[in-house]
Amino acid sequence: MKVSGAVRVPGDKSISHRALMVAALARGRSELTGLLSGDDVKSTARVLRRLGVDVSTVRDGAVVTVRGGRFSRPRGSLDCGNSGTTARLSLGLLAGQRFGARLTGDASLRRRPMRRVTEPLRAMGAHIHEEERGDSLPLTIRGGRLAPLDYASPVASAQLKSALLFAGLTGRVPVTIREPFRSRDHTERLFVHLGLNLKVDGTAVSFVPTDRPTALPPYRLEIPGDISSAAFLVAAAVLAEGGELLLENVGVNPTRTGVLVVLERMGARVERLNLSEAGGEPVADLLVRPARLGATEVTAAEVPTLVDEVPVLAVLASRARPGAETVFREVGELRVKESNRLELIAANLQAVGGDAEASGNDLRVRGGGTDRPPRGRVDTAGDHRLAMAFAVLGTVPGADVRLSERASVAISYPQFFKDLRRIGEGGRGKGARHRD
Ligand code: S3P
Repeated sequence: MKVSGAVRVPGDKSISHRALMVAALARGRSELTGLLSGDDVKSTARVLRRLGVDVSTVRDGAVVTVRGGRFSRPRGSLDCGNSGTTARLSLGLLAGQRFGARLTGDASLRRRPMRRVTEPLRAMGAHIHEEERGDSLPLTIRGGRLAPLDYASPVASAQLKSALLFAGLTGRVPVTIREPFRSRDHTERLFVHLGLNLKVDGTAVSFVPTDRPTALPPYRLEIPGDISSAAFLVAAAVLAEGGELLLENVGVNPTRTGVLVVLERMGARVERLNLSEAGGEPVADLLVRPARLGATEVTAAEVPTLVDEVPVLAVLASRARPGAETVFREVGELRVKESNRLELIAANLQAVGGDAEASGNDLRVRGGGTDRPPRGRVDTAGDHRLAMAFAVLGTVPGADVRLSERASVAISYPQFFKDLRRIGEGGRGKGARHRD
């Protein structure tokens, strides 16, 4: 296909969760523009409403208002749906509350590890009761008086880091988190933007509450487009036979732009235009053109900066020069995402005639060139990022990629298929929105 036109991708999922949660703690009416209307963010809004916070309807294009201040004991369980961010960050918010709350989620979320969060929260003094298999939802948490924490985390996880920062904020105690590698820093940026006392020193982050118990002020925040959603359209444009594509208003926080760095090493340059700032986050338009791809090695330190983009980067690597081998180092964390992405990326690439394998914690993908079109059936396991990555592979000439389902894109990018179709239809002029 040839690509053209301009697309505004939906709001950043990570920032949307944080914007809602912090607004829920602020005393007064906050206004959030550009909030993602995907199911994961709706899960966060639903959980906050259950805690007594007034959150207006989360709908595409709507300004979402949050009247926050004080949480109340929820009646019934807090259903986090498919969203790991909702579950883990909520545990942090609840660690400083004096009532009990039970968290649960869908089958995928109930398989995901929670002890990385519950262990340090317990060390701070939160009471957490595990049901069933232990290291997973459903869990009941009862917060209370918390102790300060200085924690060296074994994983670079922004969800874990943010949960502990939220526990420090709600429990009014100092926390320091040390990560093996730097993970996305949206929580830190939001804290600084709101004037909270947060310091970053290399891979260590510290929050120290002020002595005076001042309430958080309500705020207005503009949420930039999600680079993790943009990455799928970037990839479609890189694989296209001609044209160029503009993606407007995309967040380019350096802890999230690993996908662009790696693409450049593979031979595809994505230009950043109109650099600006919104709510303490850097924003730019991205201009993408088709490219011939080579291989690269993605290092362990880079993984947190592109952790959600491994599926689409692996798809691109499968279209690189014949034999060119791309290696993703230390991506074992992908086994515990919405699905076992590490195994499913390899299995699905093989299913469509590609050459890929998971060896230990590494993922290896060999290029097949552009002569052999991908053909076969892909099992998305209900995982939105697998569905979108393989849908992009399905756009190459001669491809016949059949997805087991497409509905999962509603988690992070409800308009994905519409946008993917549109960029290949000759475009509809600059400034096109992701919603007609
Ligand atoms: C997220 C952090 C990442 C990412 C997830 C969103 C966040 O998870 O995979 O989609 O908003 O903090 P980890 O921090 O657990 O790696």
